[in-house]
Amino acid sequence: MAHRVGVIGGDGIGPEVVAEGLKVVASAGVALDTTHYDLGGSRYLRDGTVLDDATVEEWRGLDALYMGAVGTPEVPPGVIERGLLLKMRFELDLYINLRPFTAPAHDFVVIRENTEGTYAGEGGFLRRGTPFEIATQGSVNTRHGVERAVRYAFDLAMTRRKHVTLVHKTNVLTFAGDLWERAFNDVAARYPEVSTAYNHVDAACIYFVEDPARYDVIVTDNLFGDILTDLGGAVSGGIGLAPTANLHPGQVSMFEPVHGSAPDIVGTGRANPVAAVLSGAMMLDHLGETGAAERIRKACDRPESLAGTTGEIGDAIVARLADQQV
Ligand code: NAD
Ligand code: IPM
Ligand code: MN
Repeated sequence: MAHRVGVIGGDGIGPEVVAEGLKVVASAGVALDTTHYDLGGSRYLRDGTVLDDATVEEWRGLDALYMGAVGTPEVPPGVIERGLLLKMRFELDLYINLRPFTAPAHDFVVIRENTEGTYAGEGGFLRRGTPFEIATQGSVNTRHGVERAVRYAFDLAMTRRKHVTLVHKTNVLTFAGDLWERAFNDVAARYPEVSTAYNHVDAACIYFVEDPARYDVIVTDNLFGDILTDLGGAVSGGIGLAPTANLHPGQVSMFEPVHGSAPDIVGTGRANPVAAVLSGAMMLDHLGETGAAERIRKACDRPESLAGTTGEIGDAIVARLADQQV
């Protein structure tokens, strides 16, 4: 039976890269029963819809969601990002944001907590628009939320090189950092085979650039994970190669590139579809189609030799898949 997948092309280069991803999945021999959802900035500007609750309910019954990118300069910041993408992550409780980074000399994964932190939306204004205005934006860290992300990181490390690094800023964020550190140490005690390390997030930025090979699995909070994973992309061949899985193990999960809608290159053919294609491969892993996922990853090897326009790169991946089958 075909897997039931909801597709959100979204804004900017989103639809361009998603088209290539779907093309590659099909040519890897996996049949998807897709439903396309017209959501994002252009839909919002047309009729005010961001994401209604009925659509979220419908998604709960699907096998997976596949997304391009959302957000556009014509809509005020946050309307689409919070109202669509974060609503999706929060309502479906996609608590793991998994972002793998590979390059000839390194291979590591960032596990970003995906439902809490500064993203939770705590805060507000007082006296907005006056000279005495105040804006606060708190960070929400629950023991439950932190611990399930940390546990996922250790379970993943057991299938890899058995090393987990906590990245935080415990020297300054002494409340959140303390909770994270205690949760991390408690979980670590249950995994005696896994070795651990700790980096402050500022130092982690140095190591990402100078010595990324030290990492196997990194676990970190929502905002640090957001920033670090753009850097991870940049030091692993470029942001156009970096995929994401937003997971709630055992439930409908969502797959998308790390990058955004790139309004600066929309329509030019310069969007690299590899991140979307590899996100498609992560979706196939989730759907149990591990053979096809592996073939797609293999077809995306040596990404530097996949040059050309968005469509040409997609075609080259399809051609490599066909070669594998000879
Ligand atoms: P961005 O990731 O869209 O672009 C940053 C830079 O990377 C740009 O120079 C862009 O041209 C380049 N780039 C991105 N993807 C690329 C690709 N596949 N191939 C080649 N180059 C690529 O980040 P931004 O400019 O800060 O954000 C643009 C919009 O996207 C904003 O509205 C933002 O909120 C949104 N956004 C959405 C997502 C998402 O939907 N998951 C993620 C990040 C940003
Ligand atoms: C990402 C994006 C999103 C985030 C934005 C668009 C809400 O940057 O997926 O990394 O900050 O999580
Ligand atoms: Mn980001």
